[in-house]
Amino acid sequence: MRVAASSAPHLICAADALADGGAGVRFTVQWAGGSQSAFVVRYRGAVYAYINRCAHRALELDWEPGRFYDAEARYLVCATHGALYEPDTGRCVAGSCTGGLVKLATFENNSYVYLAADAAVRVSGD
Ligand code: FES
Repeated sequence: MRVAASSAPHLICAADALADGGAGVRFTVQWAGGSQSAFVVRYRGAVYAYINRCAHRALELDWEPGRFYDAEARYLVCATHGALYEPDTGRCVAGSCTGGLVKLATFENNSYVYLAADAAVRVSGD
């Protein structure tokens, strides 16, 4: 689904598509002048979205499409070299990464998850 740029929030997915510590939902966002992979996960009941790009190298994190958590569902893990990120802040806590992930503002309303950014978003489900 492609959504034109506007100041309105952009629908990402149904809220029940995100289980706590489970698979995330991938989507595409226009960011930094280009089309970027992004994802949203649920952690301790809340939803958090990030640009899908490791702070070590510009590679996507998921070890399978939509799989971002480590085995204990405590951290987001980069599949390439194993950097660990806090799910709620995106801060790097272990590995070669510096800084953290680029966080995207989200919110839930009426059983749906929205991106609260003023950007053109394509929910790709890839
Ligand atoms: S690319 Fe993510 S830890 Fe190296």
